[in-house]
Amino acid sequence: MAQSIQKIGIANGGGDCPGLNAVIRGAVRAAILGHGWKVVGITDGFDGLIWPERCMPLTVESIAGILPRGGTILGTTNRGNPFHYAIEEEGKIVEHDYSLKCLENARKMDLDAIIAIGGDGTLTIARDLGRLGIPVVGVPKTIDNDLSATEVTFGFDTALHVATDAIDRLHTTAESHGRVMVIEVMGRDAGWIALHSGIAGGADVILIPEIPFTIETVCERLRERAATGKKFSMVVVAEGVKLPATDSHGNPFPAPRPGQVGFVIGDTIHTILKKDVRVTVLGHIQRGGSPSPFDRILSTRFGVEAVELIERGEFGRMVCLRAGEIESVTLDEAVGVNRQVDPKGSLVRTARAVGITFGDQ
Ligand code: F6P
Repeated sequence: MAQSIQKIGIANGGGDCPGLNAVIRGAVRAAILGHGWKVVGITDGFDGLIWPERCMPLTVESIAGILPRGGTILGTTNRGNPFHYAIEEEGKIVEHDYSLKCLENARKMDLDAIIAIGGDGTLTIARDLGRLGIPVVGVPKTIDNDLSATEVTFGFDTALHVATDAIDRLHTTAESHGRVMVIEVMGRDAGWIALHSGIAGGADVILIPEIPFTIETVCERLRERAATGKKFSMVVVAEGVKLPATDSHGNPFPAPRPGQVGFVIGDTIHTILKKDVRVTVLGHIQRGGSPSPFDRILSTRFGVEAVELIERGEFGRMVCLRAGEIESVTLDEAVGVNRQVDPKGSLVRTARAVGITFGDQ
């Protein structure tokens, strides 16, 4: 198998993530310097496979300097599923299946294999393109750190640094003014960023999707703090948190989108406690900017190992981190299972032990 590889493609899909460029650089350098292969950059998710004229050659020279750069030089999209490609035609959204076109174009471009970097959605598409006949290997990506087959995804560490730094900054101003600060961080389905940054930043309350809470319990904790002379409090909220069905007056809570849930919680705390509350939504700041050293190293290891999987002919697999070592799992094992915070796990127990409440007891 190894002798037959001459050219590979690299695609990344879904939301961007610090470290994407470092994966691309690691893979390009390993492929060219280690094996003498050619590398093609597939732009904007899998769009470059549908419209090959949008692809670009990747060389050691063309990727110089991208290691510390955030974002991705390939561009990305979370709307480009080739199996269900939505296009507006005469005012209507029409779905097309471009998967066979991808196969045809991969063959026309002489791609012997493709490295697909992405979260659950992108890796599912990659697996299905693999079933059609395109040899693929995967690299896990998401700042949310919620892919089940790897201990850590690249991007998480950078997001955690951003969130912790923000909590530290908000801490000092909260203390000066005696305010309640609500900080909404990312984490659509899992509370990893909130849990880690909340512990690292010394939060008083952490609200995550995995632990149902009531606003009354949160307010009780804030009252207790006030009773001991602590005039300010820090509340870290994961954007994907599930609001209780009703507020303290029995009125139904609205179903807020990410970016709004922090405001709903902040407003409710203000109404109940009559305290000065300020809300900060960190949003995409957590996804932007230069990757941390940890993420640069993890991304480079993932990129290099993806090339080695191709070299060994181990297609349909995704690289992952287990006990500090780079390993691989099948794409089938890698997708479809969200890795969530264990409400009884050691991190949650540690947080509770230092007095953090999750709003449940
Ligand atoms: O999955 C990563 C993530 O950053 C989530 O935490 C967040 O909800 C989502 O992407 C935001 O996506 P978009 O960039 O499409 O707004």
